[in-house]
Amino acid sequence: MNDLGKLEDLPADYRAELTSHNLVPLWPSLRGVLPPGKPRPNTRATFWAYQTIKPLLLKAGELTPIEKAERRVLVLANPGHGLEKMQASAAMYLGMQLLLPGEWAPSHRHTPNAVRMIVEGEGAYTTVDGEKCPMSRGDLILTPTGLWHEHGHDGDQPVVWLDVLDLPLVYYMETSYHVNGEPQTIHAGRGDRQYARGGMLPTPVFERSSKSYPMLRYPWAEARAALLTMADDLPQQEAVQLTYVNPETGEDAENILGFYALMLRPGQSLRLPARSPACVFHVIEGGAEIAIEDQTFTLTEADTCCAPGYTAVTLTNRHADKPTFVFMADESPLHRKLGVYENRG
Ligand SMILES: [Fe+2]
Repeated sequence: MNDLGKLEDLPADYRAELTSHNLVPLWPSLRGVLPPGKPRPNTRATFWAYQTIKPLLLKAGELTPIEKAERRVLVLANPGHGLEKMQASAAMYLGMQLLLPGEWAPSHRHTPNAVRMIVEGEGAYTTVDGEKCPMSRGDLILTPTGLWHEHGHDGDQPVVWLDVLDLPLVYYMETSYHVNGEPQTIHAGRGDRQYARGGMLPTPVFERSSKSYPMLRYPWAEARAALLTMADDLPQQEAVQLTYVNPETGEDAENILGFYALMLRPGQSLRLPARSPACVFHVIEGGAEIAIEDQTFTLTEADTCCAPGYTAVTLTNRHADKPTFVFMADESPLHRKLGVYENRG
């Protein structure tokens, strides 16, 4: 490959004149923005242990009342992007959020899409667009772009959940903002009940729902049962994985990030191919070794790690006698819509 001219090869007075006119020569930076063959991601393989996060989160509960935090979150920041950027990857934000008994996180809505994966505790709920969604371990609850949402807690133990947002992308596009609102009026009817059976949709008087997000809560009990049924039915070597989708359209549950649940059979090792999107892994139940390039992380329940794009990842169930269940989030819907999605095998 040709060596391209460097900035310092140019006379200082020429560079100064370009700068004064808001002009930049492309060739010194061309290889940086268009590297050969493969991007150079800032996203690094990074691991966050829940046993490290939890005491610090509980400490935040002592140090900062909910009124002073609105959302009491410790952000899982990828050092490759710089911690102050609060990014897990180019498009993904991750945060562990704490809600203490009796606390209230007031109603708001915003342009970034969010989901919550419930990590620990019972009795909390999220009200989304007037639908009260109970929060139990492993449940996935959507708070898509523009929908009002608030969190309350009627239980007696701290509740912790993992927030996954497309905030870095929406912020980068200069389209990120929020609006505060009044407490929501809860309406009857729950999407997770109406869409409780695969392949069957509610169609009152032959009409399909026109809601953009007809299902807001994906109960873990249903996802786990579906994975176990699939495992019974599929050949041993096949991956046991499901995607959280909009049940009316079959499209991804949200527009920018994709969400998945994976079951590793006892002792199973599964290689996920090198694909363009970055991916986040969070253990719901069991334990896994996750190998990303030259690093291997050992995850137990509630631990989280992320892998950059264009990187193969091998997950191995650490248990020989029971399955391990992993929640995954990635940037696939975004990459597919932009036409940059790649699977390099
Ligand atoms: Fe929010």
